[in-house]
Amino acid sequence: MAHLLIVDDERSICELLEITFRKEGHRVEVALSGEAARRKLQSGIYDIVISDIHMPDSTGVELLQYCKEVSPSSYFLLITGVPTIETAIAAINAGADRYVIKDHDLVDQLRRAVRQVDETLRLKTEAGYLRRELRRLTGLDNIIGHSAKMRAVFDMIVTVAPQTSRILITGETGTGKELVARAIHDHSARSKQAFITINCGAFPETLLESELFGYVKGAFTGANENREGLFKAADGGTIFLDEIGNMTLTMQVKLFRVLQENKVRPVGSNEESEIDVRVIAATNMDLEQAIEAGEFREDLFYRLSVIPIQLPPLRERREDIPILARAFLERFRKSMEKPVEGISPEAMSLLESYDWPGNVRELENTMERSVALESGTIITPAVLPEKIRIPGSRDLPELTGTNGAPLIPEAGLDLERTIQDLEKAYIMAALDACEGVGTRAAELLKMTYRSFRHYSKKYNIR
Ligand SMILES: Nc1ncnc2c1ncn2[C@@H]1O[C@H](COP(=O)(O)OP(=O)(O)OP(=O)(O)O)[C@@H](O)[C@H]1O
Ligand SMILES: [Mg+2]
Repeated sequence: MAHLLIVDDERSICELLEITFRKEGHRVEVALSGEAARRKLQSGIYDIVISDIHMPDSTGVELLQYCKEVSPSSYFLLITGVPTIETAIAAINAGADRYVIKDHDLVDQLRRAVRQVDETLRLKTEAGYLRRELRRLTGLDNIIGHSAKMRAVFDMIVTVAPQTSRILITGETGTGKELVARAIHDHSARSKQAFITINCGAFPETLLESELFGYVKGAFTGANENREGLFKAADGGTIFLDEIGNMTLTMQVKLFRVLQENKVRPVGSNEESEIDVRVIAATNMDLEQAIEAGEFREDLFYRLSVIPIQLPPLRERREDIPILARAFLERFRKSMEKPVEGISPEAMSLLESYDWPGNVRELENTMERSVALESGTIITPAVLPEKIRIPGSRDLPELTGTNGAPLIPEAGLDLERTIQDLEKAYIMAALDACEGVGTRAAELLKMTYRSFRHYSKKYNIR
């Protein structure tokens, strides 16, 4: 059943249609003005919008144009009391799906129209399901983004995937390096072969060596049998060397040799064997800086980064924040089975202006938390973490050391700012403890309500 938005300044029409479509099993919401409809479209997801053409504050055609912008997949039905050729043409040109005349037959006409749209939607959902299945297999479309920077990344993935050249993916934590590596493999001719991931930072040196290259029985204590390494396991496919920047210099030399000769020699063996493996590496370090510091080998760097792909941090492509947030909302509301359907404009603008040091992963976690905490049907600022809700705030530093004395971090500390952060944190905590009742919070903090108001105003706390 569909989610409907009915827009008309005539309350009686809204009520009539609301009752009619509720009876048919649809979920129905009503807006009595163009402005109210805009607000709903901004925060909710509707399958079908039914709107009057003439309203005091906006025309249905204007609303239709707005709807095409924010929610292009919604169906839009326009109704008019005074049919004219001009409005009909305007409606069609703006992309209305149906144009219905308000007469004695209105309800039946709309009912038929909605039924048809509903059927189309059902087929589309099925087709969408199949397409998503396909995308899940192909991978690329798991990477959400429509900013110019991300489109350039998509183009790059599709271009370089069919070749076998080595690729180095760089980018801050949480920018999607692993997703991109996977997409490259999925779009390559090797997609049916293995894709093997190893986190080079997670193993001590000797273990990493035997993981990557394998070992023969007796190579070291505990090597009770011959074992194939990951390079061999990835033969014909792709190996993804994650966090390559954390590899020790000795391992770097060994890896360099493998890349140069396309041969691996298991630990303890004299025999080398040929391999055909595509190497994709990733790091969130600045490798050129590491090279300068003598921590990363320049020759290995050039071997690895035949094609470099740099993933932009989220704060440099803020236009991706709304669609990412909505996609994560959609995912978590389904998995948690919660009726949270949208994000309030205030909450969205907070999400858009936050800096996201943890990038997409942080946004993903934030949406998970928000869906879990939200008790209403749309995400409001109240469920966002403080550092997002209150711009300019940050996590409080650790205040006291083990001996209870004030702790001053090595890098020093901005006393004034720290005290302000503390003030703010106590005001918020007191409000939380008193369920938002300011007079009680003031009492708890042993201050007058007047000074309490002063602080709440200073820190923008409602
Ligand atoms: N563009 C995107 N669209 C959808 N999900 C994304 C996108 N970018 C990242 N993610 C999600 O964010 C999380 C982090 O992504 P990923 O593990 O690929 O990041 P990473 O760059 O490898 O981070 P790290 O350096 O910390 O390992 C994952 O859950 C991933 O699915
Ligand atoms: Mg990663």
